[in-house]
Amino acid sequence: MLHFSFKHMINKVRGGVVSPLTLNDIGVLGMNARNINYIARYNDRKKYPIVDDKLNTKHAAKKAGIPVPELIEAFETPASRKRVMEVIDPLWQFVIKPARGSGGKGILVIAGRNGDKYKKISGSEIEALDILRHVNNIHSGLYSLGGKPDRVMVESLVDFDPVFQSYSFEGVPDIRVIVFRGFPVMAMLRCSTHDSDGKANLHQGAVGVGIDLATGNSCHAVQRGLRINRHPDTEVHFDQLKVPGWYDLVRLAASCYEMTDLGYLGCDIVLDRARGPLLLEANARPGLAIQVANGVGLRRRLKFIEELDEDMLNKNVDERVAFSMREFAADKGF
Ligand SMILES: Nc1ncnc2c1ncn2[C@@H]1O[C@H](COP(=O)(O)OP(=O)(O)O)[C@@H](O)[C@H]1O
Ligand SMILES: [Mg+2]
Repeated sequence: MLHFSFKHMINKVRGGVVSPLTLNDIGVLGMNARNINYIARYNDRKKYPIVDDKLNTKHAAKKAGIPVPELIEAFETPASRKRVMEVIDPLWQFVIKPARGSGGKGILVIAGRNGDKYKKISGSEIEALDILRHVNNIHSGLYSLGGKPDRVMVESLVDFDPVFQSYSFEGVPDIRVIVFRGFPVMAMLRCSTHDSDGKANLHQGAVGVGIDLATGNSCHAVQRGLRINRHPDTEVHFDQLKVPGWYDLVRLAASCYEMTDLGYLGCDIVLDRARGPLLLEANARPGLAIQVANGVGLRRRLKFIEELDEDMLNKNVDERVAFSMREFAADKGF
């Protein structure tokens, strides 16, 4: 899908000429270059456990003063399963997720109750037994990296900011920010669709909207690699979309550099109606589709940061955010 998406970008730029050279020309960062020049070079493997396990991320974020969705309970061992019903029975809404999951797999978003039934965010209903089975599957490693036994998290449902109401169908939109050596370099909003079952992961059919780092305004949107102007379910145009509290959100992303000590990072942030931006997760191997969502390659921006002098690299978080907002504004064509 990614390959097709890049082709689409090139078609737009070059009238259909597709070759590795043209990919290079428009500054698209490929998988090998990302892995070798950025992930391997700037991410210390010893730090991976902080981001590869969402329970660890929660604890690290708490320590660093970074707000996160509330953890209601963690079921760390199969024996702890006997308490699942006791914990979720009093809850009206909640999210169950595998600590070591990725790509939206194994995330169960319960948005309400109907008698004994639990209502998924898409409207379909499941029973307590289905939830117990799901918890069982998570523990046995069905959704975890490498199929290893996993821990189960019960998290509060994010009450997302109503500005996104018309841009998201049956789910919570999240904002991905790529942070390189502490500098935010690119951002996108991911909106769930009917196809993506309440989750904002692009390969599950969510919409990717490129967001101008300088302003928080949308600048480009795609679904399944194709450019679109309106949300496929709500039909609302993306050109009016502006993320509120943009500075605070970008600042939160940039501060994940100090929290994780990882040089190349993808931060996933949700906007809660009452609490503002919350860190959902951080990723040491963030995907490349953000370039498609923005219609812009990452390479030049990353090079630009790589060439900064030592003095700039030691700037504090506010200085780094101000720098990125200035240098990577969409109207600069960088
Ligand atoms: N607490 C939550 N409240 C509401 N939606 C959530 C919550 N946690 C996750 N989601 C939905 O599921 C998606 C994936 O969650 P995330 O924690 O990023 O896991 P993954 O590593 O699988 O991407 C999010 O983009 C969001 O749409
Ligand atoms: Mg995610």
